[in-house]
Amino acid sequence: MDRKQEMRKLVKRFLKKLIFKQKSANTKESIIFNPRSKILANADRAIEHIKTGYTTPVLIEVDPSNACNHACNFCLSSYIHFEKYKGTETFSRAIMPRDMLMGLCRDFVDMGVRSVNWTGGGEPTLNKHLKEAIEYCGKNGIKMGMFTNGTLFDKWDMFETLVQNMTWIRISVDAGTKETYNGIRKAKGKQDWDKMVSNLQKLIEVNKKYGNKIDIGVGFVISPDTYHEIVDFANFFKDFDLTYCQYKPEIVIREDGGEQRDLEFWTKKVAPLLEKAEKILGDKFQVNGYKFEDLATDREKFGRNYKKCLGSQISPCIGADGHVYVCTNHRGWKQYSYGCLYDDKSFKEIWTDLSKRREVMNLIENVECFKNCTKLCKPHESNKAMWDIYKNLDGRKERELLRQQKKIRKSIKHPDFI
Ligand SMILES: C[S@@+](CC[C@H](N)C(=O)[O-])C[C@H]1O[C@@H](n2cnc3c(N)ncnc32)[C@H](O)[C@@H]1O
Ligand code: SF4
Ligand code: SF4
Repeated sequence: MDRKQEMRKLVKRFLKKLIFKQKSANTKESIIFNPRSKILANADRAIEHIKTGYTTPVLIEVDPSNACNHACNFCLSSYIHFEKYKGTETFSRAIMPRDMLMGLCRDFVDMGVRSVNWTGGGEPTLNKHLKEAIEYCGKNGIKMGMFTNGTLFDKWDMFETLVQNMTWIRISVDAGTKETYNGIRKAKGKQDWDKMVSNLQKLIEVNKKYGNKIDIGVGFVISPDTYHEIVDFANFFKDFDLTYCQYKPEIVIREDGGEQRDLEFWTKKVAPLLEKAEKILGDKFQVNGYKFEDLATDREKFGRNYKKCLGSQISPCIGADGHVYVCTNHRGWKQYSYGCLYDDKSFKEIWTDLSKRREVMNLIENVECFKNCTKLCKPHESNKAMWDIYKNLDGRKERELLRQQKKIRKSIKHPDFI
């Protein structure tokens, strides 16, 4: 067998395992992590955008803080808050002020936004006003999820607030031992492995008290610095009361060159360890199979065959610097901002300024032809699903999609977190 044939065989085996896991219909993981179904679950808004050019966002990614108490080797927002980017256009360690954060929450409720992801930029829990914002949104029916390193929950005593108001929380861990964790994350102060573990345990405890109200998961970004602990991570967390332990491939951002890890890394180094982890974790094992599929099968375009970025039009990002960005991947770059909250404009005003939004999207889609877009960006799967709808939409298709929507909303978990 020559090298090419051997590689093809390895890729096939790798995908068969992972994609099967992702698509197997009845696991609770696949009903949470299914971006395409989530677009169908929000077909009303997808269709409204396609037909009129405007709809209220389904999900908003909000960065309460651009500062972070960690500095993970692979961080996709390194160009925002790492020391070495000081003095560049994107550098910011802004923490969103209370008035701005609460004003946003009021707009979300007013506009009928369905869900909010608290994320970053930096570490969302560095913002001391986040607790109040979560309580406000929770009281007003907005669903919320959060990506966090989990090391500051105790500082603001957030446990009850989180369990009472959130839908899900994922703690980014990316290691299986204290040594590697502390090494790759370069935590400041005492916000290290021990703190993360004790906060996670406390969160699980409070969640139990309320009948496991929220889904708690842990995350592992697979990179050349972390992959060797894929199995340690599984062993460490297997007995924790978690909904899932998620593995996802590192995406190399354009600020770091944008060259994705080669195929051999995924097939030869990562795949055998993931197979072991799956055996250890059983039902708790979760992997972003669709991302691996693009990484392994399309080394040129990584599955980007759409001509419009429609997913971002129902899931924008609001940076801690007050800018409303097209998506999380473009945060920090002002040419991809629809407007700034510091210019005395509300989110609602910025979002309804369709001519500015069209100008920015024209730049991305028609002038740059996606050249500055991160490969496998967050809305990538939504973009594929929205593109399919866009190409085939007619009266009959519209009625069919709207009919299906209700059924799909009942059959998947977290339908508003696209
Ligand atoms: C940038 S972090 C910000 C929120 C929080 N500080 C945290 O780490 O969870 C948002 C998400 O991006 C993920 N992430 C960071 N760098 C990544 C990379 N290079 N590839 C894929 N995901 C990455 C993190 O694991 C986390 O789920
Ligand atoms: S904790 Fe999150 S924001 Fe901070 S460096 Fe790590 S991945 Fe980046
Ligand atoms: S990176 Fe590009 S394609 Fe992806 S969501 Fe952002 S603008 Fe759209």
